[in-house]
Amino acid sequence: MCGISSILSLNDDIMNDLIFSLERLEYRGYDSAGIAYLGTNSKLYRERAVGKIENLKEVVEKLNVKSNIGIGHTRWATHGKVTELNAHPHVCDGVAVVHNGIIENYQELKDKLITEGYVFESETDTEVISKLIAFHIKGGENFQSAFSSSLSKFVGTYAIVAICENEPNILLGAKMGSPMAIGLSNDQQNFHIASDAVALSSLTDKVTYLEEGDIVVAEKGKNLNYEIFNLNGEKVARDAIPNVVSLNDINQNGYESFMLKEIFEEVIVAKNTYDRFNCDIDIFKFRGISIIACGTSYYAGLLAKYWIEDIARIPVNVEIASEFRYKNPILPKDSLYVFVSQSGETIDTLCAMRLVKEAHINTVALVNVNNSSIAREADYVIQTVAGTEIGVASTKVFISQILSMLLMCVKKDSVDITTIEKNINIVLNKQHEFARIAEKIKNSRSLFYIGRGTNYPLSLEGALKIKELSYISAEGHPAGEIKHGPIAIVDESVHTIAIAPLDKHFKKTLSNSQEIFARNGKILLITTENARNLVSDFDKGDIDYIFLPNSDPLYYPFSITTAIHLVAYYTAKLKGGDVDKPRNLAKSVTVE
Ligand code: F6R
Repeated sequence: MCGISSILSLNDDIMNDLIFSLERLEYRGYDSAGIAYLGTNSKLYRERAVGKIENLKEVVEKLNVKSNIGIGHTRWATHGKVTELNAHPHVCDGVAVVHNGIIENYQELKDKLITEGYVFESETDTEVISKLIAFHIKGGENFQSAFSSSLSKFVGTYAIVAICENEPNILLGAKMGSPMAIGLSNDQQNFHIASDAVALSSLTDKVTYLEEGDIVVAEKGKNLNYEIFNLNGEKVARDAIPNVVSLNDINQNGYESFMLKEIFEEVIVAKNTYDRFNCDIDIFKFRGISIIACGTSYYAGLLAKYWIEDIARIPVNVEIASEFRYKNPILPKDSLYVFVSQSGETIDTLCAMRLVKEAHINTVALVNVNNSSIAREADYVIQTVAGTEIGVASTKVFISQILSMLLMCVKKDSVDITTIEKNINIVLNKQHEFARIAEKIKNSRSLFYIGRGTNYPLSLEGALKIKELSYISAEGHPAGEIKHGPIAIVDESVHTIAIAPLDKHFKKTLSNSQEIFARNGKILLITTENARNLVSDFDKGDIDYIFLPNSDPLYYPFSITTAIHLVAYYTAKLKGGDVDKPRNLAKSVTVE
């Protein structure tokens, strides 16, 4: 949620790298983007543009900038509309800042600064940061001291980077609640501060993650030097670790979008997850399991609940992190707490985990991003080895999350990974069929996904993907619940995608589909080859089928996942939206 990047360099050609790193961060927000830099005359300049980074890039390319210090930002709007005035960096009296997070007491600070004569031009919380630093400098403090004094006044979360016209050789960064990674380029010519290692891929081989309350002070003399100070102002050393994000991870590799590339990677992700699965936790020692997550990761948890309860016979509680953390949860000590997150930065999941840790209970993180905040703070980490996921809507990581949770409750060699791989591949080869379904649903007034058992969480996932990428109002329901209310919406303009592979729920889901069909709703049935003969008695009419490969029902969720991801992909493509960056969203949700 908002990406920040910055460079302090011994050379005056930072602009390409700054824009490159911002482009890598675009998945964190793309409402607007901006940069501020000091020119070779040490004067502060700022450029901002509404929309994606390509708009900013167009402006910057024309300027032929020469600079050795600059900061950049890609915004996901929290306070204030998507306008150029609200775009970062925010500037005051030669100080420029970019910020990720929320300054909760900004109004109070703003009121005070207004009485000091400052005039605000944006609706953002961030503007108080630049103004407060400028205020402290005006009061006689140097840049670093003014920066620290300002931080001490903030309530909320932040990753902030700042530069100052009067001290052109200093780059400052601070982290509290929002992630921040730093690194020196291999040739020691550039020092970077950014939101994450993805921004620094190919720029630095090693990264250092700042800890809560840390301030980094980078200075340019003959060489580049930097120091890190903790919350108490003490100088501290933080480990530098290899930056494992490769250029290959962040390239589209010939696919027309990252989302399509990532859906096609679902096969290899399943294989890698299986091969590299490593978990020291014996879930059978626990009397209960709580899985806490948001969005797609939450749906992965809901699906795993069916497996764990069925196979391991351990009660599983699946909770939405933003609800869990504020409800005074009951925390039995003999339960296992698993926090599921692709990014490892989702603030609600992170805070829910901290709550459990405060009760002196061990926590397990199932995360995709190595060294993310959730991974670093958890007692145990299971990594979903899906590789970097760039498409804002999570796809391949879902496969890795559900397989990891299956492997937590069964013996590894009892899982037939070859069948899982083979069946996902078969689904990937049916692209034209998903394109056909997409053509049918693209103008739906509203869409239902229905399913029973594990097909219910998959219905939620399918509906979420449709709504976030195609902006069609879509709902996932347990097939048996439709007649308890949602069926009232059904008419000839509503499509229902029924997930009904040949399993113990097949007949019942088919009956529920008939109930919708009888009310003129249009049915699309995702089923399995072994049900071909069984669906032929379905009323003739506006019904379409997709037949997925047969397997043990335990493995259906894997091929169904790829199927629902492809349905969402092709529908979004037909609707003309940006599948990698759907409107209003961001990949890493670091605000509550
Ligand atoms: C949907 C999607 C989101 C995320 C959610 C949690 O396609 O990607 O719903 O699943 O924001 O994010 P993580 O898993 O990073 O905690």
